Amino acid sequence: MKSVTLRVPATSANCGPGFDTLGVACTYYNEVTYEITEERGFKLEVEGEGAEYLKPHGRNLAFQSFFRVWNAVHENERIGLKIKMLNRIPMSRGMGSSSAAIVAGLYAANCLCDNHFTKDELLNMATEIEGHPDNVAPALYGGFTISFMQGETAHTLKFMPAKPLKFIAVVPDRKLATSLARAALPKEVPHKDAVFNSSHACLLVGALLSGEYDYIGEGLEDKLHQPYRAHLIPGLYEVFEAAKKAGAYNGIISGAGSTIMAYAPIDADHEAIAKAMLAALEAKGETGVYHILDLDTEGVKVIE
Ligand code: HSE
Repeated sequence: MKSVTLRVPATSANCGPGFDTLGVACTYYNEVTYEITEERGFKLEVEGEGAEYLKPHGRNLAFQSFFRVWNAVHENERIGLKIKMLNRIPMSRGMGSSSAAIVAGLYAANCLCDNHFTKDELLNMATEIEGHPDNVAPALYGGFTISFMQGETAHTLKFMPAKPLKFIAVVPDRKLATSLARAALPKEVPHKDAVFNSSHACLLVGALLSGEYDYIGEGLEDKLHQPYRAHLIPGLYEVFEAAKKAGAYNGIISGAGSTIMAYAPIDADHEAIAKAMLAALEAKGETGVYHILDLDTEGVKVIE
C-alpha cells in the first residue's frame, strides 16, 4: 500500500472540570491523504484552515508525526511523501487541530507499515508530541475519553454516554494560543477548588454514564482553569448564560479556547442556542461562527 486517506475528528478537551483528563470527539472532520512518492522530498497541498501558511517541512506536525512511526519501522529507508489536507478544524481555537494533525500522521504511517503499532502505542507517541493526552485520546478512539498518566505512560478509558446529546461550538474569529492559555494558569490552587473539581468531574462522568442528564449542567462547572482564562475570551460568561437561557445544560471553554461549547439536550432548539450564544459574543464586539455537532464514536478512520 502506497497511500491512505483518513478522516480525523475535532476534539474538545477538559469538558469543564476534567482539566488535561477528559475529552470528547465531535462530528467535524479533517480529511488527509498520505502518499509515498518515488520522488524524494516533501509535498503539501492544503485546502481550508492553514492553507496560507502550512509548509512541507519536518517541523510540520503532519510530517513529524508520520516519520515518528515510519522511521521506527523502516530505520534507513528514505522516502518521498505527499500530504493532501482538507482542513476544516479551526486552528488555535481549542478544537484539537494539532492533535488531529498528530493522530493523522501517526495513524497514516501505521497503516502504511502494516499496523506495526497498537492504538495504545500510538496514544503514547501522540501524547509525547502533544504534551498531554486529553485531545489525542478522543481523536484516536472517538467517544468520551478519560485519560491519565502512569509515570511517563499515557492511558485512556473510552466511554459512551447513555443517551445522545448535542454540542454547540461557537468559534470566535479571535485565535488563542494554547501556550498563552496555559501560561494564564496558577502553579497552585486552593484545596477547596481541587475538591470542587474532583466532585464535578465525577458528577459529569456519572451523569453521562447513568443517563441522569439533569446533572450535566452542574457537572460541567470548573474552578481549575476557566476562571483564570476568562479574561482571554471576551464575553465567556455572557455566552454561557445565553446558552443556558436558550435551553443548553451549560457552557464550557473547549480545550484551552477560544471556542465556547455548550452541551445541550437532544431535543432542545439547537439553532436557537447557537444564535443566542453568537449574539452574546457579538455583543462584546467579537465575531465568530457556530457548529452544531454530535458525538463522534469512532475516532480516526480510514476512508480510502
Ligand atoms: N487540557 C489542555 C488545556 C487542552 O486546557 O490547556 C489544550 O491543549
